[in-house]
Amino acid sequence: MHSPFWGPVVRDEFIDKNPTEEVLVSAELGSGESDEVGLRPRLLDDFIGQRELKEHLNIVLTAARQRGQATDHVLLAGPPGLGKTTMAGIVAQEMGARLHVTSGPALERAGDLAAILTKLGERDVLFIDEIHRLARPVEEILYPAMEDFQIDIVVGKGPAASSIRLSLPAFTLVGATTRTGMITGPLRDRFGLVSRLDFYDEDELRAIVVRAAGILGIPADDDGAAQIARRSRGTPRIANRLLRRVRDFAEVHGSGVVDDATATEALRVFGVDERGLDKIDRAILSALCRQFAGGPVGLATLAIAVSEQPETLEDVYEPFLIQQGFISRTPRGRLAMPAAYEHLGMPPVV
Ligand SMILES: Nc1ncnc2c1ncn2[C@@H]1O[C@H](COP(=O)(O)OP(=O)(O)OP(=O)(O)O)[C@@H](O)[C@H]1O
Ligand SMILES: [Mg+2]
Repeated sequence: MHSPFWGPVVRDEFIDKNPTEEVLVSAELGSGESDEVGLRPRLLDDFIGQRELKEHLNIVLTAARQRGQATDHVLLAGPPGLGKTTMAGIVAQEMGARLHVTSGPALERAGDLAAILTKLGERDVLFIDEIHRLARPVEEILYPAMEDFQIDIVVGKGPAASSIRLSLPAFTLVGATTRTGMITGPLRDRFGLVSRLDFYDEDELRAIVVRAAGILGIPADDDGAAQIARRSRGTPRIANRLLRRVRDFAEVHGSGVVDDATATEALRVFGVDERGLDKIDRAILSALCRQFAGGPVGLATLAIAVSEQPETLEDVYEPFLIQQGFISRTPRGRLAMPAAYEHLGMPPVV
């Protein structure tokens, strides 16, 4: 029977259809804003920044290609919008493999994952987004699949039921997570390459903006691109989004060209300040410094104060505010740093 206590076993009647799976070539990989699809770099060489990750991947991919084998499993961690999905597409593209896309929350039962695994081709890439949100029985199917390319399936019912072992083709799992801390040890250990994506620096973001402007046919000069880069919270997705908003503004209020003055004015109108913080970022700093006298304050309390989900606060907003030295996380709660007071134009509280 299908029971988590008996290890990774799946009933065969579950293994058939699966509505969540998508098979894509990496060029089609897209989500959200329509232009995002065309903006994703397809090859490692087109991917700007993340030097260390690129270097490691380049070695791993080249070696696998030379041996004619599937690449080792890769785990990518880091805040939203830094290029995890993009990198999964690149792994498939560089290996000349098909890319299958799914996500942790979409795989509700062990059978959902088994259905996808049994449809994989030799050396295909399976991308599981938000892999930290896999249900436990689903995760247990993944262990032998990753390690030995095998899964166990129960055939029949009741006393006549028997378990058969299915061999899978050698495939590559690329997992993405915004929370490394929530990946279980056994899962993490089964990845051959575990990598963290860092926020991008200004030069990298400027190159990303210039590249995106080129692809989208937006006239932008260097200073305009630099202004957008500086205010993008270290995040390519935000850089691309701001570029589009500045273009809109330039078309309505300016000459249509994204230059320094237009970018500065447009970003002011859209509520993005000179450090790249938006309304919610500033609300977080303001709540911390004013309402809670600098903290420490618990995540849940802070989330309520700014009307956001605690998870959103933790995954989306805090990483950049911490990286920039505005706030810090302590065991007793969130703490405002001097830079936060300075940014709000308040005298620092010591
Ligand atoms: N290094 C890069 N060079 C150029 N563009 C990039 C780069 N990294 C990301 N992008 C662009 O940023 C956008 C967001 O990237 P992506 O969707 O891969 O992020 P993600 O890490 O998967 O985010 P999430 O955690 O929200 O799923 C994409 O449209 C992509 O075009
Ligand atoms: Mg993604």
